[in-house]
Amino acid sequence: MGKDSLSVASITSDLGTHFVGQRVIYYPSLTSTMEVARREARHGTAEGTVIIADEQTAGKGRLERIWLSPKGNIALSIILYPSVTYLPSFIMLASLAVVRSIEAVTGLKSQIKWPNDVLISGRKVCGILIESDVQGNTVNHTVIGIGINVNLRVADFPEIQQVATSLSDELGKDVSRLSMIRHLLVEIERLSLALSTGGSIYEEWRDNLVTLGKRVRVKSGGTIYEGVAESVARDGSLLLHGLDGSLTKIITGDVTLRD
Ligand code: BTN
Repeated sequence: MGKDSLSVASITSDLGTHFVGQRVIYYPSLTSTMEVARREARHGTAEGTVIIADEQTAGKGRLERIWLSPKGNIALSIILYPSVTYLPSFIMLASLAVVRSIEAVTGLKSQIKWPNDVLISGRKVCGILIESDVQGNTVNHTVIGIGINVNLRVADFPEIQQVATSLSDELGKDVSRLSMIRHLLVEIERLSLALSTGGSIYEEWRDNLVTLGKRVRVKSGGTIYEGVAESVARDGSLLLHGLDGSLTKIITGDVTLRD
């Protein structure tokens, strides 16, 4: 096995979690971990099951975008069956778990661009996609998809070079994917247990947002809003102070920082 190759045993052994990562399904190559996760969830797989791929051939981003997912990166999806009350918190939970894990493994400080992109020095190092199957007030399942640029030479990928970075580019040396994955799974479980025992992760998420106080352009549905990102609410929405003095609450969207 190569130095940074992954296996189910190396990810799961002595992980110390109760449910996240207790079952791992690993693929050297896959279209998208989201697809397999959705299928597994429909079959009622154990809560916390993780689908991991070394490379994805049809990685899926937010807003129907393509997610570049070559070897050397982390691409995983985690299956959960939460109560509907916790759904807004998963956006916060996933990005915070990534921020905490990056710092623990590499010492690098990262920040969150609302709602859940993770940036280092203003460039995207991680994208998060959360898909839920909800009927009325019942969540059939939620899949948290996390893609992290780990050992990627961004200069080799002109299409993302201006906007993206990787942990190895930032650090100047390769980073253990195994260590990142294990930290991430532990943090996700820790934060979801905190939620279910009444804790809040809103404050820590808010305090890690790079967006607040900045001039932004937000694309939400077919509409583009411009203004200053004033604050975020406990449900994860963004309050935008428009240039005309208006206040708009935005549930989800794509932010460009203007400053
Ligand atoms: C985004 O920033 O647009 C979200 C990117 C999410 C990428 C991850 S990689 C693992 C999982 N599988 C996918 O196909 N997408 C998510």
